[in-house]
Amino acid sequence: MAGITDLPFRRICKRFGVGLVVTEMVASRAVEQGRERTERMAVVADDERPASIQIAGSDPAYMQEAARWAANHGADFIDINMGCPVKKICKQVAGSAMLRDEPLVARVLEAVVAAVDIPVTLKIRTGWDERHKNVQHIARIAEDCGVAMLTVHGRTRAQMFHGHANWEDIGLAKQAVSIPVIGNGDVVDAASALEMLRVSGCDGVMVGRAVQGNPWVLAEVSAAICGKPAPRAPGPEERWSVIKEHMDALAEHHGIATASKLARKHVIWYSKGLHGSAEFRQHFQRLNDWQAQLRVAEAFFVHGGETEDRLRAA
Ligand SMILES: Cc1cc2nc3c(=O)[nH]c(=O)nc-3n(C[C@H](O)[C@H](O)[C@H](O)COP(=O)(O)O)c2cc1C
Repeated sequence: MAGITDLPFRRICKRFGVGLVVTEMVASRAVEQGRERTERMAVVADDERPASIQIAGSDPAYMQEAARWAANHGADFIDINMGCPVKKICKQVAGSAMLRDEPLVARVLEAVVAAVDIPVTLKIRTGWDERHKNVQHIARIAEDCGVAMLTVHGRTRAQMFHGHANWEDIGLAKQAVSIPVIGNGDVVDAASALEMLRVSGCDGVMVGRAVQGNPWVLAEVSAAICGKPAPRAPGPEERWSVIKEHMDALAEHHGIATASKLARKHVIWYSKGLHGSAEFRQHFQRLNDWQAQLRVAEAFFVHGGETEDRLRAA
């Protein structure tokens, strides 16, 4: 997820039982510009493997170049984004706009599969809008072009992130092909993961927004899928140790100025649902100083969190 699944957060997610992590989307045209930020997005660490680098674009030649670049950066898989609904991306006929042009989908997939010798996977939505759903067609095109695995977000582009993901539509893709199909959209806990698997018949689940501020949900989902008992919820000490590690890693990976901006969003997500989180949010989002951010976060999560746990236990 753009702006979220950078290396620091992927490493945290990985330890909660995730099978495959994916980088933020890298625009294929950005690759040749060689900006520092683009390079940073493609840093893969050994302790997160297997890891996939996601690329987006509609020009087969640029996509081939981006795929080779990703493979050279140590990706275990190349994932192609044909699901992004953002206007800026769709205007360039990339992301989910690609779904309207099936011959172009095939050209891009064939080109990328031919360019690298690691597996190529594809992420799609179910179609452009309710009247133009083509999830089965795209799934078959992907399989025919040599795509190794398909992830389907059960919304159309027109839905953006509104309404509900349609898990039956994910099932249509699963029935159409024999490559693994991963379901995505609205998995927020163990129960919804199991229900998506049941309704769609798909082979695995991808969790997106529910991990924001709550990587522990991945352990819950993973245990449920493997038929293991639910892990216990983290106490304040454990929660803070993950948050602190996340903040330290953000600083190391991005430098303090960027880390400070990113921490604002992540730390506020971590506080969601805890006692006093509204006041904490107000205060924390105004802080610009990294040391102050660390101090205020520790005070809230270690002491505020503890108070909340005692309240819950009482
Ligand atoms: C802020 C944000 C950034 C995202 N960036 C990407 C991205 O770079 N690549 C991608 O395939 N999907 C991206 N997504 C979509 C998610 O991967 C996922 O398909 C969608 O949120 C539905 O799943 P969920 O209900 O589990 O969140 C993004 C979503 C959000 C909210």
